[in-house]
Amino acid sequence: LNSFMFEYKGIYFYTGSTTPEIIDSLEHMEIRDSDVFLVTYPKSGTIWTQQVLNLIMHERHRNGLEHIDNMTRAPWIEYNLHNDAFNSRQSPRLFTSHLPYYLMPKDLRFKRAKIIYVYRNPKDVLVSFYHFHKLYQKLEVTLEWETFLGLFLSGRVLHGSWFDHIKGWYTHKEDYNILFMTYEELKKDLRSAVIKICNFLDIKLNDDAVDTVVDKSSFKNMKQDPLANYKFISEKFLDFEKGEFLRKGTIGDWKNRMTVAQNEKFDKVYMEKMKDLPIKFFWDINDEEQ
Ligand code: A3P
Repeated sequence: LNSFMFEYKGIYFYTGSTTPEIIDSLEHMEIRDSDVFLVTYPKSGTIWTQQVLNLIMHERHRNGLEHIDNMTRAPWIEYNLHNDAFNSRQSPRLFTSHLPYYLMPKDLRFKRAKIIYVYRNPKDVLVSFYHFHKLYQKLEVTLEWETFLGLFLSGRVLHGSWFDHIKGWYTHKEDYNILFMTYEELKKDLRSAVIKICNFLDIKLNDDAVDTVVDKSSFKNMKQDPLANYKFISEKFLDFEKGEFLRKGTIGDWKNRMTVAQNEKFDKVYMEKMKDLPIKFFWDINDEEQ
């Protein structure tokens, strides 16, 4: 564990972006029925889905009239960046979070607010996260791949264990108005994924508007967009000499990275951790097709 992380209530946070006080204050955050929350474990397609949600929810994004960074238009509730502005925001508000279910605002269980939970094959999450650590100046830049793999499997990484994150949210899904989606589902058929999200949010878009959402959230277009790539964030945090935020955007990159032994080590932990969870993940079923 490096000096830039602290542990609070079972989760590792980055010291520069939040404090225990901020985390605690979220318990009482006032929720509106019209609020939409995007919840993910890091590197699961957060920025991508944020882009999709903003385009669906706001015509001014679709027609290009408003083009502001992802961090501002979908504030992260656990970061100290924009918290003070939460209450003054106009409905419908969109928020993003990597928090586990038990640290989310309590009010979410009693309002009709909606949550979209996006998850991704954890092996691809691991590889993406590893590359992100190289980009992120404040994290352990010298980490070896094998070391990082071990930290990831034991949950000693930013935002804690992937396994606990998905298990927690999945086993408490009845408490929330929640839609589960996968990165891979977006990747394989973005248009259908957009329509699914529209249905969940009760938003009707005509075919042209759906096309615009799909087009503006393609990997190609987002990769060229500095605002989607965190390019406005100070060099103190991200070093773009070392990589890009929108890196490959593919399914199955783990196969280029993990050795057979590493893959077996991963599967062992995976099976142990996930054995009680009653969902069959697509990557367990048709991994070969990826
Ligand atoms: P890779 O590192 O595998 O390329 P997050 O936003 O949760 O941190 O996730 C980042 C991952 O989502 C990165 O994965 C990034 O390339 C990918 N991503 C971002 N926008 C995307 C898009 N429009 N299409 C496909 N993948 C995208």
